[in-house]
Amino acid sequence: MQHRRSGAWQGGSYRRAEEAAMGAATHGEMGRWRGASKQAVCSWQCFCLLLIASSALLYTMSVSRSFCHAENRNGFGVKKAAVAGEAEILLESDGKGQWRGDVRELETAWNRLCFGPPPEMLRMALFVKKWPVGGVPGGLERHALTLHKVLADRGHDVHVYTISADGSTPGDLKEGGLHVHFLHPNAGGGFDYNLAWEKFSEGNRTRMFDVVHTESVALPHWRAKEVPKLAASWHGIAYEVIHSDVVHDLIRKPGEPRSEDLQKTMSERLFRVSEEVKFFHSYNHHVATSDFVGDVLRTIYEIPLENVHIILNGVDEVKFRPDPVKGAAFRAEYGIPANASLVLGAAGRLVRDKGHPILFEAFSEILLNHTDVYLLVAGDGPWGDRYRELEPYAKMLGPMTPWKLAEFYNALDIFVNPTLRSQGLDHTLLEAMQCGKPLLATHFSSITRSVIVHKDLGYTFSPNAESLTKALRAVIKDGKKNVRKKGQKCLEYASLMFTASKMGTAYERLFLCMKDEKYCQYPLPTDCPVQKSNYF
Ligand SMILES: *[C@@H]1O[C@H](CO)[C@@H](O)[C@H](O)[C@H]1NC(C)=O
Ligand SMILES: *[C@@H]1O[C@H](CO)[C@@H](O)[C@H](O)[C@H]1NC(C)=O
Ligand SMILES: *[C@@H]1O[C@H](CO)[C@@H](O)[C@H](O)[C@H]1NC(C)=O
Repeated sequence: MQHRRSGAWQGGSYRRAEEAAMGAATHGEMGRWRGASKQAVCSWQCFCLLLIASSALLYTMSVSRSFCHAENRNGFGVKKAAVAGEAEILLESDGKGQWRGDVRELETAWNRLCFGPPPEMLRMALFVKKWPVGGVPGGLERHALTLHKVLADRGHDVHVYTISADGSTPGDLKEGGLHVHFLHPNAGGGFDYNLAWEKFSEGNRTRMFDVVHTESVALPHWRAKEVPKLAASWHGIAYEVIHSDVVHDLIRKPGEPRSEDLQKTMSERLFRVSEEVKFFHSYNHHVATSDFVGDVLRTIYEIPLENVHIILNGVDEVKFRPDPVKGAAFRAEYGIPANASLVLGAAGRLVRDKGHPILFEAFSEILLNHTDVYLLVAGDGPWGDRYRELEPYAKMLGPMTPWKLAEFYNALDIFVNPTLRSQGLDHTLLEAMQCGKPLLATHFSSITRSVIVHKDLGYTFSPNAESLTKALRAVIKDGKKNVRKKGQKCLEYASLMFTASKMGTAYERLFLCMKDEKYCQYPLPTDCPVQKSNYF
């Protein structure tokens, strides 16, 4: 039960598990510094935390500035001499605006390119800690499923080493090219790294795998070293979490003490970053799921530039698409009056991390001046009861399956994601966009550089109630008509960038390129022309 609840369609649920896993992965090494005098370590840590937080801020500012400059150069960024000592490589578009070059040198998201049919079929292995079986799947689980279904549908032989999300041990699942090997969980009910490696090795002996993919640290670093044709996708790294820690510390009410949790995470985070920087080098290729993380991997994490690839997440474009009829029916079902001037929606676990304290406060403030604005909240959690105080203007919908969630997005004027966790790329943002809805989301670099890249696509705010209230007032002032226009732009942009097939074909090209360098060239004769966008 507990398990299923925490798995509700949001990036957050997997973050927890992943953090625990990263903790486990680094635990052995972390043990070493723990012996030091606690007092001294703490004050030193606090100093470093401040230092890194301010350098992160400066860094983010400089990155967004350089991003603006890159815009006048067809958006792809012209990169010179990517690797010191190597011949100068110049990436430029040809006269028709078609980018060409070696995909490993691409500085921005691969999603911007258009990839044709695969020139050969690959045998690939995937390590992922959980596979959705029954219930409402979590963010990372859904990402892995969506991606590898696309790859299998394109004809590849895909073998997944995982455990079932509901704790059962079903027989292997075989569906076309997709073969899911469900392993027995370990004694703690989690993913058994050794067993997964054993089963993978068995599969590799039957026929060699061309490439191996791991979602985060499902293949631990001490194994990763032995696999040269390996790509790891990172859905949140410790460096990003520092920002979230700062945010959490800042939204404490005056006089409210730091929670034990926060105290602990803040003092350990820097060491976590440093450990990650060390062990990330055991993985050969890195997929960053946001532009910001791509930069951090190249700079702070010191990963060779040509081994960092930015591939933004995609979501099922068949499931999530505009459907005004279903949207209207959903509004009626939940009693939204026809004269509502604006319907906002939020989805996810209703916990502090997801920004519900600030949304609650901001929406309460808005209700002082407006009685025709509504908020639909999908999901459950501790903040559900607070929202019930705002009925009938706030409506609690409970947890929803992806199908029902698609209707929910369609019922909205604008989707709100007030998350206080800056890491990863939240699927709900992309799903709402695919349904033609604009966004109101926290001003985090992962979001502003990869999703709300222009004010045409929505609104952003700093992670505090005051800033969110101001943004909500701006949305109301803009009015339904302008908001709808932004939604249309979102749909256009998402159809280019965030479809499951766009994500799938980008990973496919990466895997092809890992197997055989001749596929690193872009475009191949089979590739499709890149569609122009106002936003890159
Ligand atoms: C997979 O099998 C090939 C061929 O037998 C071998 O060279 C390779 O090292 C194996 N890969 C792993 C990761 O064990
Ligand atoms: C909206 O319509 C309802 C009746 O359906 C009415 O009671 C209410 O006052 C109206 N609200 C506004 C803001 O016009
Ligand atoms: C909103 O309502 C409150 C209380 O009625 C009032 O003090 C405030 O000035 C109003 N704000 C705006 C922006 O209208």
